[in-house]
Amino acid sequence: MELHKRLILQNKAWAEEQNEKNPGFFEDLATGQSPKYLWIGCSDSRVPANEITDTHAGEVFVHRNIANMVVHTDLNLLSVLQYAVSVLKVEHIIVCGHYGCGGVKAAFEHGNLGLLNKWLRNIKDVYRLHEAEIKESSSDEEERLNKFVELNVEEQTMNLAKTSIVQQAWADGHRLMLHGWVFDISSGLVIEKVLIEDDKNLDDIYKYDIEKGVQY
Ligand code: CO
Repeated sequence: MELHKRLILQNKAWAEEQNEKNPGFFEDLATGQSPKYLWIGCSDSRVPANEITDTHAGEVFVHRNIANMVVHTDLNLLSVLQYAVSVLKVEHIIVCGHYGCGGVKAAFEHGNLGLLNKWLRNIKDVYRLHEAEIKESSSDEEERLNKFVELNVEEQTMNLAKTSIVQQAWADGHRLMLHGWVFDISSGLVIEKVLIEDDKNLDDIYKYDIEKGVQY
């Protein structure tokens, strides 16, 4: 059997199983979505948002890219963020990195990867900010890479707080928590690294003059 046909067959079996377990599930799903979470994760096939959090269709709004980056010029990410915050009114945004991240590893090295260089450059900037801390964290390269993954998640979570989208939500009294998580592929467990609930720890230079109730 051709590989893609397997997916169609599995989809049929899955849909039947959902209908048996929960009659009316798809009719309800078709009426709309009201997820409470926005997930910003790595594209890595080993870190699927719904599976590792044991959530169902309709529960998590998802954006994924290489190394779970929050890049302030990325229109794709910003559109997802704005829709999630101002329309869906999600209450939690989770930035989830993972140990063994190929994107972070590539940024740690010097390979010339063409177009990818431009994306990885954002991760190299995180390295430059935390170079001393990463080097001092361990003499073992894998452990240094793990530290790099953790610090990247923290930086990307803080990058969310730097957006006027998040700042506007906070100013409007919209409860919005920003979580930075690392998924440990070898254990299947998530480790919580950072939680940001306000702009207390945000560098002043990133704070906008936000007026209440203004369009995002
Ligand atoms: Co990755």
